Amino acid sequence: MHIPTLISRKREGEELSGSEIALLVDGYTKGEVPDYQMSAFAMAVFFKGMTPAEIAALTRAMMDSGDCFSYPAGHPLVVDKHSTGGIGDKVSLILAPLVACTDCWVPMVSGRGLGITGGTLDKLEAIPGFNVQISLSDAISQLEKIGVVMMGQTDRFCPADKKLYSLRDVTGTVPSIALITASIMSKKLAESLDRLVLDVKFGTGAFMQTRKDAEDLAASMIAVGKEMGVEVHAVLNPMSEPLGRAVGNSLEVIESLETLDGGGPADLRELVLDLSEKIVSVPRAELERLLDDGSARRKFDELVAAQGGDPADLPRLAEIHKAPVIREVIASHGGIVSKVDAGLVGQATLQLGAGRAKANDGMDFAVGFDRIVKCGESIHAGQAVCRIHARTPVDFDMAEAMIEKAVQISSL
Ligand code: URA
Repeated sequence: MHIPTLISRKREGEELSGSEIALLVDGYTKGEVPDYQMSAFAMAVFFKGMTPAEIAALTRAMMDSGDCFSYPAGHPLVVDKHSTGGIGDKVSLILAPLVACTDCWVPMVSGRGLGITGGTLDKLEAIPGFNVQISLSDAISQLEKIGVVMMGQTDRFCPADKKLYSLRDVTGTVPSIALITASIMSKKLAESLDRLVLDVKFGTGAFMQTRKDAEDLAASMIAVGKEMGVEVHAVLNPMSEPLGRAVGNSLEVIESLETLDGGGPADLRELVLDLSEKIVSVPRAELERLLDDGSARRKFDELVAAQGGDPADLPRLAEIHKAPVIREVIASHGGIVSKVDAGLVGQATLQLGAGRAKANDGMDFAVGFDRIVKCGESIHAGQAVCRIHARTPVDFDMAEAMIEKAVQISSL
């Protein structure tokens, strides 16, 4: 295959065949197609887009570049969820054990945080000893025992996506609906799912800034699922204010535990139920019961124990990761909370050290925000709008100034 011709044809908006796309991806994964040609191809796709058939072919080729989950005959329904990420989004930590209580298997392969959005793996690693590096065969054994595994991508899992995503990151080709669809769906479909729910966020704290972009991405991912025989549901959710009241690794785990114990913030619990009910075979009331009667929490404890953690540490997380400076931000006037800018809270969390700016940066599990006010709540002067957990007083001052911009209170 003559790669320059293939790139030129895509540049002119021609539709490529499935076998051409498969050969390109295979050549790229093996190092036979160099980065400069793949970048040119990605840029051509960025400008010309891809047809649904091309996107499905790209997804399949990336999925087939590595190993896929393979389950024993007669296995239960295999389900998962994917979120395009948001500020304070800790849904996976609650949804995975909850859904596993309904006799589904949940093989959740997640990512790390990059930029302002946190990653599920980083949150899980705030639990001492929790191991996210699990082989595919150990993952299957764990599914057979407890029905849920939460792990990172292994080297043999969609290697083409790993390589292509790093390239897109430095060539201005991340925001392409076709490339995002293939990237997300190849990883999810390599889990060999029966059902998948997608939480597609839009707004200042999200990857997709507008509802229209989120709708386009959702439609594209549903079309690929259909093409590949997987039932895919998409739920569109605004990400204008943070989800729940906590942002930051250990603080989000603590809020997840509250929700797994039947409490937690209403918006978080509702979203978990909205997404879970799309992939399970039990009614919503049963999911609520599993949260309220401690079943989901017991399943989370089993998960922690299975992956090297000690459930006895969970009630002590606030002590284990206690930031040196924990102080409230006080409202100067009363009124109704009209805005809590998720994007700004995300930036502030990053600056406190809870995220990473580059892939290999370390991160601070202790820092972040909790007790954040929600839009629509009424507060009075002198009341706290949130609590900041910071490493130093200087960090606290920086975060406080950002929160003062992020939170708007309209006078009554
Ligand atoms: N997340 C992914 O996994 N891939 C993308 O391309 C964008 C977001």
